[in-house]
Amino acid sequence: MKLLEGKHALITGVANRWSIATGIARQMHAHGAKLAFIYQGERVKDEVQKLAAELGGGPAIECDVSNDEALLALSQRIAKDFGGLDILVHSIAFVNKEDLQGKVYETSREGFKLALDISSYSLIALVKALRETLNDGGSVMALTYYGATAIVPNYNIAGIAKAALEAIVRYLAFDLGERGIRVNAISAGPIKTASSRQVGGFSKMLDKVSAGSPLRRNISSDEVGKTAVYLASDLATAITADVHFVDAGYHAMGMFPDPPSDS
Ligand SMILES: NC(=O)c1ccc[n+]([C@@H]2O[C@H](COP(=O)([O-])OP(=O)(O)OC[C@H]3O[C@@H](n4cnc5c(N)ncnc54)[C@H](O)[C@@H]3O)[C@@H](O)[C@H]2O)c1
Repeated sequence: MKLLEGKHALITGVANRWSIATGIARQMHAHGAKLAFIYQGERVKDEVQKLAAELGGGPAIECDVSNDEALLALSQRIAKDFGGLDILVHSIAFVNKEDLQGKVYETSREGFKLALDISSYSLIALVKALRETLNDGGSVMALTYYGATAIVPNYNIAGIAKAALEAIVRYLAFDLGERGIRVNAISAGPIKTASSRQVGGFSKMLDKVSAGSPLRRNISSDEVGKTAVYLASDLATAITADVHFVDAGYHAMGMFPDPPSDS
């Protein structure tokens, strides 16, 4: 059964085939949604255009979410190509690499502003730009991580930005709820991508989840994508202002068993 037939989605955050947004796009395409993509800059243009062609041939539009003129142009282009938008996927983050290790108190004011602007405020900016284009009854979702509410060493300022993002999700859910538009966050477990590799000790995070989560494994971007399909579909019409974990259950662990001894 195709759950998103006739729906139009804007997918942000595709940089390459390993991006979580690519897994979301793959699953939404498989469920019949028509997709548009944004890309940030020439560096990723060819790759994103290639993926857009593979996933239904929708437009790939250049847009840096820190640029309000680019966001205005994006909303005009989406209105022209799609008429209305049923689904908005926010899968964007950026933190300077030096702020993804060491002490949080060493974070510079500029590093903080940049991280919060791109990783958190951009959801407000996208909704602001696209609010007329978003159809009543639509679904907005953003990608977050457990480090928003728990201490994950080295995630540092990214966790602080995710805490802001999760609060933004709740407030936008209230703003848009009167139009039946739902706003949720998906809290994904660690997945190896260009962004996550910048976090100090990232491969150890993968090992800890595969050893310590109830499912004893890591997760894939397509599993995040399947959850995104559900949240965007009519199966989830009463779900909003929520943070939905797709992390093999890791967030629910309060203590970890000792590793088996060699003897
Ligand atoms: N990979 C993980 O372990 C993990 C876990 C939980 C949540 N997340 C979140 O998932 C989302 C996607 O990250 P990913 O892991 O797929 O990495 P990724 O590097 O593939 O995706 C990040 C995307 O953000 C885009 N971006 C950055 N600055 C931008 C700007 N100014 N304008 C427009 N786009 C911009 C990049 O082009 C890229 O496509 C992020 O919000 C990330 O924090 C990732």
